[in-house]
Amino acid sequence: MCGIIGYTGPLEASKILLEGLAGLEYRGYDSAGIALCMEDSKICLAKKTGKVKNLKDYCNQQITDSSHCGIGHTRWATHGGVTDTNAHPHQAGKVILIHNGIIENYHALTEEFHLENELISQTDSEVAARVLNRLYEGDPLAAIRKLIELLDGSFSFCIMFEDQPGAIYAIRNVSPLVAASTPSGSLIASDLTALIPYTRNYFVVPEQHIVKLTPYKVHLYQLDDTFTKTYPEMMTVNWNMDAAMKNGFPHFMLKEIHEQPDAMGNTILPRINKGLPDFSEDKIPDSIFETCSQVQIIACGTAMHAGMVARAIMQPVLRIPITVSVASEFRYEEPLIDEKSLVIIISQSGETIDTLAALRLAHQCKSTTLAVVNVKGSTIARESDYVFYTHAGPEIAVASTKAYSVQLAALYMIGCRMALVKGKYTKEQAVSFLGDLLDAIPAMETMIAQKESIGNAASHIIHSPDAFFIGRGLDYAFSLEGALKLKEISYIHSEAYAAGELKHGTIALISDQVPVIAIATQQHVYSKTISNIREVKARGAFIILLAKESAVVDDHLADICIRIPDVDDLFTVFPIAVVLQLIAYYASLKKHLDVDQPRNLAKSVTVE
Ligand code: G6P
Repeated sequence: MCGIIGYTGPLEASKILLEGLAGLEYRGYDSAGIALCMEDSKICLAKKTGKVKNLKDYCNQQITDSSHCGIGHTRWATHGGVTDTNAHPHQAGKVILIHNGIIENYHALTEEFHLENELISQTDSEVAARVLNRLYEGDPLAAIRKLIELLDGSFSFCIMFEDQPGAIYAIRNVSPLVAASTPSGSLIASDLTALIPYTRNYFVVPEQHIVKLTPYKVHLYQLDDTFTKTYPEMMTVNWNMDAAMKNGFPHFMLKEIHEQPDAMGNTILPRINKGLPDFSEDKIPDSIFETCSQVQIIACGTAMHAGMVARAIMQPVLRIPITVSVASEFRYEEPLIDEKSLVIIISQSGETIDTLAALRLAHQCKSTTLAVVNVKGSTIARESDYVFYTHAGPEIAVASTKAYSVQLAALYMIGCRMALVKGKYTKEQAVSFLGDLLDAIPAMETMIAQKESIGNAASHIIHSPDAFFIGRGLDYAFSLEGALKLKEISYIHSEAYAAGELKHGTIALISDQVPVIAIATQQHVYSKTISNIREVKARGAFIILLAKESAVVDDHLADICIRIPDVDDLFTVFPIAVVLQLIAYYASLKKHLDVDQPRNLAKSVTVE
C-alpha cells in the first residue's frame, strides 16, 4: 500500500526521494508525488498518476533548483480516484503532508472544521492536512498532538511545515515507519528497502511518539505533556541491498522462486539440534505447546493458505482442534478462544492490518500468541508473545513465493515440536519428520530446474478466461494457493475446489478445453481424485495433472502430466508450490502482464 519516504541532509533530496520511491514501488501503488523544501523556503510540489518513472520524467523537466529536504509518497487509492490532485503530498497553508492508512472520521472532521469549500481533492488525507493547518500556531509538536487526538483510524504521516525549513515530522498509529540518522543525512520511510542504500542501522518508529528529522539528527518525543525526549531501540538489517535487487533475473518473482531452497535451509537448519526441532534461540518455551488445548491459526492471503496446510498436517497428529481463520473475519467475530488456546499468527510483512487486529483480539481473550513473521521488528513481531522469524530475506514481488515456503517450513517445525512435547511423536518420529522436511529442499530444486517445461504447460491456459484447481485433503489446501497465485498475476479467473465437491455445482462450468489443474499427491485419496479427474475429462476439460514420479497414471487421463519427486505425502507441498508458482509466473509472462506489480494489488496491506 502507500509508500512513504522523507529525507533531510546534505545531498540532493529529489534524487533520494525518487530513488526511494522506486524502491517502494513493490508495495503496490497507482500514483506518486514529492514535495521539496527549496532554498528560498518555498515548497515545490510534483504529483503524477502512474509509475514513479512518470514522476521522475516530470521532475527532470520541471525542477531545476536544488533542495536538501523533502517528502515523497506512492499512493494506493482508498478515498477518491487515481488523479494527480488526489496524489500526495497535500499542501494546506503551511502544512505539507503525506499519509498511509485511512482516517475513518474524515467526514465528521470536514464538517467540524468547515472544510467543505477548501478541499481540492477527494482524499481523507487532505482533510488531515487542513485540520493540522488550522491547529498550527508555530509549534509543530503541539499541533501534531492535537491532530492525533482528533483522528480515528490508522495512519502514518510525514509532515513538513513551510516555516520550519530542513525539518520533517512524523507520527504513526498502526501503519509502519522506520527511521535512521546516517552520515548522508536523516531518513524516514514506510519500509527498509528505502533506507538500505544509506544505512544498516535503523529504528522502528514507536506508536504514540513524534519523530523530528533534522539534517544530522533524529529526535523522538513522547506524546506526553512536555514532549519528553526518548531514545529509540536501534536495530540492524540482516540482509544487504543485493537481496532487494533482481540480480540478472527478469523479474523479482522468478528470482524469489529460485531463492526458495536457500531460504528453506536458512529457516530450518539453525533450529535443528541433534535431529530435533529446537526453538531455544527463539526463546519459544515448550510450555506454550504443553498447555494448549486448541490451536487457532490466523492470517490473510497466501499466509492463510500456509495455515490451511499446517492444519491438515497437525490436526491428525496432535488430536486437538486446529482452526484456520481469515484475519478480516476473525477480528469481527466472537472467537471461541481463551487462555488455553495457542494463537498462531502468520504474516510475511508483520504489518497486515487485519492480522494485527486479530492478534490484539487474541490478547484480549488472554490467549498465548506465537507469530510466524518474516520482517524483523515489524508490529506483529513486536506485539506477539513469541516470534518465530522466517529467514526468506526481502520479498519484493507482490505474489508471495519464498515467504510461503518458509512459513510452511516454520509451521511444520512448530507442529513437530508440539507433537514431541505433547507425547504424540517419539524422538525417532520427530527426527524422521525433520529428515523428510529437509528432503523437500532438493525436491524443490528439481522442479525449479524444470521451469521451461512447466512454462510450456502454462501456455495451455493463457487463452482461457477460467481455470480450476482440484485436489483432495492436503492437495486441496495446495490448490487454494495455486488458484490465488494464478489469478493475482495472470488475471485468469481461477478457483480451487475439493475434488469431491465438483459434482455439487462447479462441474456445470466445465466444458471443452477449460483448464483443470489437478493435484494428486496423497496416496490415501489418490484413486478418488483420479475418478474426479475422469469426470471433468469426460466433459472436455484440458487436464494438467501434478502427480508423484512413481504414481501410475493412465496414458489418456491427462493432457499434460508434471511429475514431482517421490517425497513423503506430507511434504509434497514444497515441490508442488514451486510448480504452481511457475505456472502462474509463466502465464503472466506469456500474457505480457506486469508480473511483479499486478494491477490493484499491494504487497503490504495496511488498510482494512
Ligand atoms: C497481500 C499480499 C499477499 C500476502 C497477504 C498477507 O495480499 O499481496 O502476498 O499473502 O497480503 O500478507 P502478510 O504480509 O500478512 O503475509
